[in-house]
Amino acid sequence: MKALVTGGTGFIGSHLTEALIRARVQVRCLLRKTSDVKWLKGLPVEFVPGDCNDKASLEEAVRGVDWVFHLAGATKAIKEKTYFEVNGLGTENLIHACLENNPRLQKFIYVSSQAAAGPSRNGINKKESDSCEPVSVYGRSKRMGEESILAHAHELPALILRPSSVYGPRDKEIFVLFKCLSRRIKPCLAGPRQCLSLCYVQDIVQGILLAVETQAKSGEIFFLSDGNDYRMEEIGDIFAHAMGIAALRIRVPRRMVKGVACFSEYLFKLFGRPCILNKDKAEEIVQEEWVCDITKAKTLLGFEPRVPLPEGAGLTFAWYKKEKWL
Ligand SMILES: NC(=O)c1ccc[n+]([C@@H]2O[C@H](COP(=O)([O-])OP(=O)(O)OC[C@H]3O[C@@H](n4cnc5c(N)ncnc54)[C@H](OP(=O)(O)O)[C@@H]3O)[C@@H](O)[C@H]2O)c1
Repeated sequence: MKALVTGGTGFIGSHLTEALIRARVQVRCLLRKTSDVKWLKGLPVEFVPGDCNDKASLEEAVRGVDWVFHLAGATKAIKEKTYFEVNGLGTENLIHACLENNPRLQKFIYVSSQAAAGPSRNGINKKESDSCEPVSVYGRSKRMGEESILAHAHELPALILRPSSVYGPRDKEIFVLFKCLSRRIKPCLAGPRQCLSLCYVQDIVQGILLAVETQAKSGEIFFLSDGNDYRMEEIGDIFAHAMGIAALRIRVPRRMVKGVACFSEYLFKLFGRPCILNKDKAEEIVQEEWVCDITKAKTLLGFEPRVPLPEGAGLTFAWYKKEKWL
């Protein structure tokens, strides 16, 4: 089998690429001029130059592959329009490239996000059939990508996956929490009741690989997480335990989260770089509930998360230590 992975240089995409190679799939990765291939070094990967925003560059990339795994995405950006250009229009471009250049494509997997659905409410885990109420520009742009998939699901065999927050080796977002804990600070951002779903990166990869094999009908959507709901404070405790440290809980009021986000966005803009904690991210962080229901993925895909949070936290911390990130 032959697969195209977009976003193969990124956190989840690099783990997926390794897993595909282990499964003896021939992997082609889309590579921008600016891409850093450090996670893919030494792997038997065919690199094809291309950018989701450059439709012509995608034609060669999609030709002759059996599967497309679309993970390329703007997860942080300086300008709001970048999210829509990459996550929305970029997805539309890739769909058209497939329709026009690869009529025999067997499966197109779009890795969307829980952010496209928006937060859960009133202690009820969000289901795929619930209405989408994204609270961030990022979430709205991922939903735009989903809508493109849904509009073409009759002519392109496509599935949509919505991972919860993903952690593991190479991740730079939840790494911020590890970093705070290493300074003995356990931040409590949106009150003591804040809870969310999480998933170790290898379990997300398992979900993506199951999706490509399933007979589920085109256009189906699946949430992916480890199946548990965690209070933010509990996550801090589990991570701190994995790190072998005790940390002091610091309550950060919502308004302060937004203030810090404004300031860091301003600072990073001065240096022309996108930052992880920007105003848009703050809109997501201050929500009280980000929990999803993975019953559908378990039933239709056979998805069975294997890595419990304490184990995943230990593996992730060991990697950060080995790579001297901490
Ligand atoms: N990490 C999470 O917690 C999480 C949760 C839910 C969903 N997701 C989704 O999962 C996907 C992967 O996330 P990640 O955390 O692995 O992200 P990441 O580490 O930031 O990687 C993003 C990837 O997208 C590529 N990319 C960005 N703009 C592109 C463009 N215009 N054309 C082609 N490639 C482009 C990047 O390539 P370069 O190397 O060239 O920059 C990189 O390979 C994203 O779509 C994200 O929305 C992530």
